[in-house]
Amino acid sequence: MLERTLSIIKPDAVAAGCTGKILAMIEEAGFRILALRMQRLRREQAEQFYEVHRGKHFYESLVRFMTEGPVVVMALEREDAVARLRDLMGPTDPAKAGEGTVRKLYGTNIERNAIHGSDAPETAERELRFFFSTSELV
Ligand code: CMP
Repeated sequence: MLERTLSIIKPDAVAAGCTGKILAMIEEAGFRILALRMQRLRREQAEQFYEVHRGKHFYESLVRFMTEGPVVVMALEREDAVARLRDLMGPTDPAKAGEGTVRKLYGTNIERNAIHGSDAPETAERELRFFFSTSELV
């Protein structure tokens, strides 16, 4: 089924100049980019986006990391987009990621892991609305 998901190229990968290479991997994997924007997250935005992790030991550090420089947020579409993007990204910890995945290629550690992808279709719709208005999702 055609599905949408939200992805973020994180500040580590943008700063390292890997934005284009990651976008190429995403397109070559059959995703259509519906919307895309480079922006710097404000602290309140990062806090709200990662609300589910508030209170966890890595939360403060995660918010600091996600606001340290620009990110690229995008809405993606393809069959089973949520699961297929997670395949392409690899697991949260780049040390456990398979060859050829974005996190294996461009991630540094469990926090600085290059890319975000929604973890379920319901999360995806919420995360898409967080960054994009309906009219932007073309
Ligand atoms: P992501 O899965 O995109 O969203 C939550 C983020 O929190 C995750 O990527 C990592 O960047 C970070 N994260 C998750 N688990 C840990 C952890 N154990 N230690 C540090 N950062 C983490």
